[in-house]
Amino acid sequence: MNRRTFNQKFSKGLVSFAFFETFITQDLFGQKIKPITLHWVKELDSMCRDLKTKQLSQVLWQQKVEELLQKISLEDLLKWIDFERLARQMKYPDLGVTTGRVRFPRLAGVPAHTVFTKKVFGMTKGRAIIPHGHNNMSSAHLILKGSFEVKHYDKVQENTREMIIKPSIHQISKAGAATSISDEKDNVHWYKALSDKAYTFDIIMFNLNPAYSKPYDVSNIDPLAGKNIGKGLLQVPKLTVQQALKKYGKDAHH
Ligand SMILES: [Fe+2]
Repeated sequence: MNRRTFNQKFSKGLVSFAFFETFITQDLFGQKIKPITLHWVKELDSMCRDLKTKQLSQVLWQQKVEELLQKISLEDLLKWIDFERLARQMKYPDLGVTTGRVRFPRLAGVPAHTVFTKKVFGMTKGRAIIPHGHNNMSSAHLILKGSFEVKHYDKVQENTREMIIKPSIHQISKAGAATSISDEKDNVHWYKALSDKAYTFDIIMFNLNPAYSKPYDVSNIDPLAGKNIGKGLLQVPKLTVQQALKKYGKDAHH
């Protein structure tokens, strides 16, 4: 194929692509959904499928999904997940957080069943997604509104009573910022709300290793009671949900 034929074919391709894109632009609650949002959803679903089939490593998935979450316009995403309706229905507990299940609109071009679970976490000032780690799952969290003190730790080792962790992220983050976890990196997460209301949008992938005894599990830990054991490592006790909520669910000054 010479350059001219190639260019002709190429521009023809672009035209039909653009036409298709216009065609699938659809109304959602009377508002136009941009084609780019549909692309974004498909890309997200495909990278999560690649994680499931191990075509993407957990660490690479974390990097790519964080990039993708931080790429979409928040305004478009809030519209896409009908955030206003979700937030209206939330009842905020005094300790800890509430969650709302997100459903994507049924529009042409959107996967009917995404391979990932999607949730919005909501909380009031001083409340927290308490410090905890997981097994056999990965998740990514995008701040939708408000600001948080965000902490992550690598999980180095654990038994039923304790965990050895290493601080990996400590930052103040606001809407538009994302972090993620996996068995391999930044496993323990802890989000404390700094604004009157604060929300995250979470993408969750369960049961990445079907040979593991459970689809996933959660361990709440007590980093403030951690013992420094050298090389930047902390040995921390595990807590029951009740103990953890009491200590970490709400700041003492709220
Ligand atoms: Fe979690």
